[in-house]
Amino acid sequence: MEDQDMVIEAFTEMAPAYEESVDYELRLFWGVGYKAFMGRLLNMIDVKADDWILDIATGTAVIPRKLAGQLSSGRNIVGLDLTPGMLQEARQKIAASHLAEPPALICGSGMDMPLQDHAFDVVICGLGTHHMEVPRLMAEVKRVLKPGGTFIMADVRATAFWRTPLGVLLLRVLIWFYSLKLRRSASKQGEGGIEAYGLSMTETRAQAELEAFRSVLTTDEWQSLVESLGFHCLAVEEIPALRRIYPGGLILKAVVRLD
Ligand SMILES: C[S@@+](CC[C@H](N)C(=O)[O-])C[C@H]1O[C@@H](n2cnc3c(N)ncnc32)[C@H](O)[C@@H]1O
Repeated sequence: MEDQDMVIEAFTEMAPAYEESVDYELRLFWGVGYKAFMGRLLNMIDVKADDWILDIATGTAVIPRKLAGQLSSGRNIVGLDLTPGMLQEARQKIAASHLAEPPALICGSGMDMPLQDHAFDVVICGLGTHHMEVPRLMAEVKRVLKPGGTFIMADVRATAFWRTPLGVLLLRVLIWFYSLKLRRSASKQGEGGIEAYGLSMTETRAQAELEAFRSVLTTDEWQSLVESLGFHCLAVEEIPALRRIYPGGLILKAVVRLD
């Protein structure tokens, strides 16, 4: 199965219970719930009424709904996601919020967006970067942002321990062990789920998260990447992992340099 097909299948299965599942996972890794994490991301976003805002990997549109509530309009807000099933949930939740001018939703990939150059003042990506090739995503973010525009991401991050020889070895062993469990579970007829490290997931979701490990960067790697692409980093907030081998959390805000 192609990586993107796997992501779509995984999030289609997860969509109805997405917000509860992600809350459980974040508490396990950081002791910080989904609402609190999203609150920290939203605190970094400073939007004006006429700003054009894009939320990449919008999922159930938590971010567009919050911002539309703050601005009393979703007229200039666009949510983009690869998984139609997540957008279906987003549509229902947006309808239930009875906004006179709801945010627009687009199905597409953050690595190849069907959007015009320099169209947005603010681009956000919450818990989505690790499912994409980050340099391709960031080239697209830069393309659609206006000069001086703001990018804010919040996601899991690799810890410094992951880059040490012991960390690299431990991660390899864990990934190998987890893949083995996946294969065993797949070979047992009628079993769609897998338990490991206290997490319970469908096989496709577990496989999609394993594939995503390659795209999880450290804070320094994120900072170097955005600076090299012509952004200036304004703020960085790290959320510590509860165990050395778990991913940490990262919220980063950067602006497109004008020079
Ligand atoms: C963990 S959810 C995050 C949802 C939401 N941003 C939030 O913070 O709750 C990850 C989302 O990324 C989406 N996704 C994965 N790969 C993508 C891609 N290449 N382009 C756009 N969305 C993608 C998935 O469909 C899923 O909805």
